[in-house]
Amino acid sequence: MSRSPFAGDAGESTSGAAGDAGESTSGTQRVVGGTAEMEALGRELGATLRAGDLVVLTGPLGAGKTTLTRGIGEALGVRGPITSPTFVLARTHPSLVGGPDLVHVDAYRLRDAVELDDLDIDYERSVVVAEWGHGLIEAESDSWLDVVIARPEGAGDDFDPADAPEEPRTVTITPHGPRWA
Ligand SMILES: Nc1ncnc2c1ncn2[C@@H]1O[C@H](COP(=O)(O)OP(=O)(O)OP(=O)(O)O)[C@@H](O)[C@H]1O
Ligand SMILES: [Mg+2]
Repeated sequence: MSRSPFAGDAGESTSGAAGDAGESTSGTQRVVGGTAEMEALGRELGATLRAGDLVVLTGPLGAGKTTLTRGIGEALGVRGPITSPTFVLARTHPSLVGGPDLVHVDAYRLRDAVELDDLDIDYERSVVVAEWGHGLIEAESDSWLDVVIARPEGAGDDFDPADAPEEPRTVTITPHGPRWA
């Protein structure tokens, strides 16, 4: 159970670029058709996660980061709801099944490593999923999963997440570190 089914062959191919993979396309790619499918991917991913795991979510506003996190939370059996809080930087969703808690970080307003440190996150005993954490939160662990969510080319810049049309996303998952080796 230590190896993620998402790891594929990407473990080796990314070793040279460790620490700089937010934009990487070397991981496993999935096309995700809509909201429900994104949640399902989250459940699939969540089923492979255990205490100490860190997932870094990268993608533009409305990409589906929170939607994916919702699925992860369902698989872990934590208390919801998982939302996008406006002023909360990290929220702990306690396990309802005796497993690890889910710490959902929204680093959008996080300025630096000191502020991140102030959150006092228990990385060892939780599953940590961080939106907008790329380039900052990886320093907290020797292993993490990079999840990059992209909207298709030509979708336009005037995208309003509030409209939320069902629209495909490309999700690229790249594992880093010994946990996924
Ligand atoms: N294929 C898809 N995958 C995920 N969400 C989709 C998809 N198609 C449409 N949506 C819609 O896009 C929105 C994604 O919102 P969500 O809050 O998950 O994004 P986010 O990446 O967390 O945004 P933010 O950066 O503001 O936190 C939802 O309203 C969802 O219904
Ligand atoms: Mg969000």
